[in-house]
Amino acid sequence: MTLQVGIIGTGWFADKHAHLLSQQEGVKVTAIAASSQQKADQFASTFNDAKGYSNIEDMLDAGKLDAVYICTPPFAHGHFEQALIERNIPFLVEKPLSSEAELPMQLLQKIEAKQLITSVGYHFRYMDSADKAKQLLADRNIAMSLGYWMGGAPGGTWWRRQELSGGQFVEQTTHIVDLLRYLVGEVTEVYATYSEGILAKQDSNANVADAGTVTLKLSNGTIATISNTCIIPAGYESGLHVYTDAGKLEIGHGGLKDITTASTTEYHNQSNPYENEAKAFLHAIRTGDVSLIRSNYADAYRTHQVTMAANESASTGKVIKLG
Ligand SMILES: NC(=O)c1ccc[n+]([C@@H]2O[C@H](COP(=O)([O-])OP(=O)(O)OC[C@H]3O[C@@H](n4cnc5c(N)ncnc54)[C@H](O)[C@@H]3O)[C@@H](O)[C@H]2O)c1
Repeated sequence: MTLQVGIIGTGWFADKHAHLLSQQEGVKVTAIAASSQQKADQFASTFNDAKGYSNIEDMLDAGKLDAVYICTPPFAHGHFEQALIERNIPFLVEKPLSSEAELPMQLLQKIEAKQLITSVGYHFRYMDSADKAKQLLADRNIAMSLGYWMGGAPGGTWWRRQELSGGQFVEQTTHIVDLLRYLVGEVTEVYATYSEGILAKQDSNANVADAGTVTLKLSNGTIATISNTCIIPAGYESGLHVYTDAGKLEIGHGGLKDITTASTTEYHNQSNPYENEAKAFLHAIRTGDVSLIRSNYADAYRTHQVTMAANESASTGKVIKLG
């Protein structure tokens, strides 16, 4: 059976997912929904037999879709998920779940009531290095973790606006928070400080923080700091370092470095994490077996809570405790 998949959005990541999907056996991208008919038609024309729609209702009314990918910015969520939940259509939604704190909880309750298959684009979990890190950490004692996402602020219309993107910690560094949760443990306390003023001077449209440092307590007794900045023009880096009684484990985009007293060993990712993520989701749709999905909506919601708590702590100066 060929799976028919719809895509919402026509931006950078819609393009990445749609082309990856169209290369999978037994999968067809058949419908594209965008904020304008012209954008939808233009994007749809790059696939055989795909049709463009200017709104999701028309797309869903037009014919049966087995799954939908939601690839819209953080502010453009809620309506799409709601329509898919009502029609029992499984979806993969890109991180973060929202720029708002409350919306994902309302959606999660409806998803759980229907036991709908969902997946969230936390692709770091599907890296070979994440598997290797899990294996190495299994018999090591972790004391602390140090995460970072140091880079520049993407341009465009929404990323630099706090109310549209949620800011860097919610939009981007969320990957590192999620990796910390996946490899080390659940977060119970969050304290954050942010700095601002540099980006806003360069770009009068920008109102996101320049940098942040977030201190985290985990339920297993370990501690972490995750810092980020979006104002550096050079020296980009991101990753998670885990400090244990065996040494230091450095996990980055490309792989992992394991530093112990005996040796320093590097592992390079071989597989494409986005493809692994897609295959896990497609397998779940075909078989009902969700065990290969590493981040579903419920799990991603916990990551969302941590990043939202960081924003709240930075604005109130208080420590935020999570249940
Ligand atoms: N997992 C990853 O590695 C990764 C990488 C990049 C982006 N992302 C995530 O993907 C999401 C999209 O990012 P992007 O870089 O593709 O952004 P983008 O700005 O390139 O594209 C966003 C798309 O959403 C569409 N859109 C906005 N509002 C809409 C609405 N109301 N209805 C229909 N379409 C609407 C825009 O027209 C555009 O086509 C973001 O949440 C981002 O964080 C994830």
